[in-house]
Amino acid sequence: MKTPAPLNFGHAPESIQSWKRLVREALSLFPATPLYIFSAQPIAERIFELENTFAAAGFGTKNSKLKIQNWLSCKTQPVAPLLRWWREQNRGIEVVSEFELRAALAEVFAPENILVNGPAKHSWLPKFSLRELSANFDSPAELVALLPLAKKFNWRCGVRILTGEEFDPENPQFPTQFGFTPEEAVAALKKLLREKVRTETVHFHLRTNVSSVAIYERAIAEVAEICRAAKFSPRHLDLGGGVPVQHVLSRGGKVYDGEFGLRSFAKMLRQSAKLFPGLREVWLENGRFVSAGSGALVVKILDVKERRGLRQLICDGGRTMNALTSIWEQHALLTLPERSGKEVLTAVCGPTCMAFDQLARIPLPRSLKAGDHLIWLDAGAYHIPWETRFSHGHAAVCWHDEKGLRFVREGQSFENFWSQWQ
Ligand SMILES: Cc1ncc(COP(=O)(O)O)c(C=O)c1O
Repeated sequence: MKTPAPLNFGHAPESIQSWKRLVREALSLFPATPLYIFSAQPIAERIFELENTFAAAGFGTKNSKLKIQNWLSCKTQPVAPLLRWWREQNRGIEVVSEFELRAALAEVFAPENILVNGPAKHSWLPKFSLRELSANFDSPAELVALLPLAKKFNWRCGVRILTGEEFDPENPQFPTQFGFTPEEAVAALKKLLREKVRTETVHFHLRTNVSSVAIYERAIAEVAEICRAAKFSPRHLDLGGGVPVQHVLSRGGKVYDGEFGLRSFAKMLRQSAKLFPGLREVWLENGRFVSAGSGALVVKILDVKERRGLRQLICDGGRTMNALTSIWEQHALLTLPERSGKEVLTAVCGPTCMAFDQLARIPLPRSLKAGDHLIWLDAGAYHIPWETRFSHGHAAVCWHDEKGLRFVREGQSFENFWSQWQ
């Protein structure tokens, strides 16, 4: 079981320093808060880590034609400069909605590098005439509705399967609403084969922060049984996302990746791939694991209060507007300038009129004061998509990559906030 370093949640000191440098640079160039800073470098590092680990486990070697492919989970971080940066590396993108597909097309991803997932896509996908898309069907009704298009445009088709390992994490006694049941999946695969559609993929996505490799292993064994029953040999096994995030704790102090080893994940996959004769690629669509470490949220302290033994910092951004994940997650929180001295229990609050608007409640130096900045790390996954405009506008955004740091979105103006109404 890994245990995080007490204050920095296991972040390397160099990584902390480099975020502080980036934030200082950003604030000197664009002094607008709340501000998200997103950087390509941590994403490149996570992909390098995945690819290296899989290569070491025997993927893509001379003796093995089996490869892995990492798709960008668009829903996790729908940020235009990230899509551009990712596309420049000739990687594919996974989308689950009409807006995301349009975003991928706007950023000139070729249709053969776009994978369409998600439920009820027969309600919007027929608007598009795109050849060679990859699409994983989600239900019998969707399959019937989209089959003619799949044939006409030569889609690479797949089927999402609801394995016994997939359940609603908040209510584990209930299944999720996604995919085909095992019986439906066998019938769907047989139908696709009969209709001579280009059927190449079996897919599942279990949930986020899957705690152990054994859970994936069991789901894969179940999918292999389903393929055998349907007499189907997939070319691609799409595992969805779910590899746990690094450096983030649950509010109860659980280390999400505490029992998950990337090396044993890769080794298990190399072994489990043998259950699928003819398999050529394992597809991964990890959101949190790949993107979380690529972002920081910077907020400014506006006011300080103290009551009933609790110090409260009222900041210009927080949970309600910028970091809903703080409902269930704890992230490393840095101070700028560096503040030290006696620590007291401190609530970091946003500016909205909700007691709920509380990014963290942790011991922080009493020397922190109005005008100081706080940096909430690991804000690169599910922060932008879950942003709200509660009483205030959207935050400003900076992007950092090999070309440097630049401002890519202004904080929302009142005119923009109000002009949506006819
Ligand atoms: C189909 C699919 N793939 C990938 C992901 C990314 O998941 P995670 O961020 O847990 O890796 C999701 C998240 O909901 C998903 O629904």
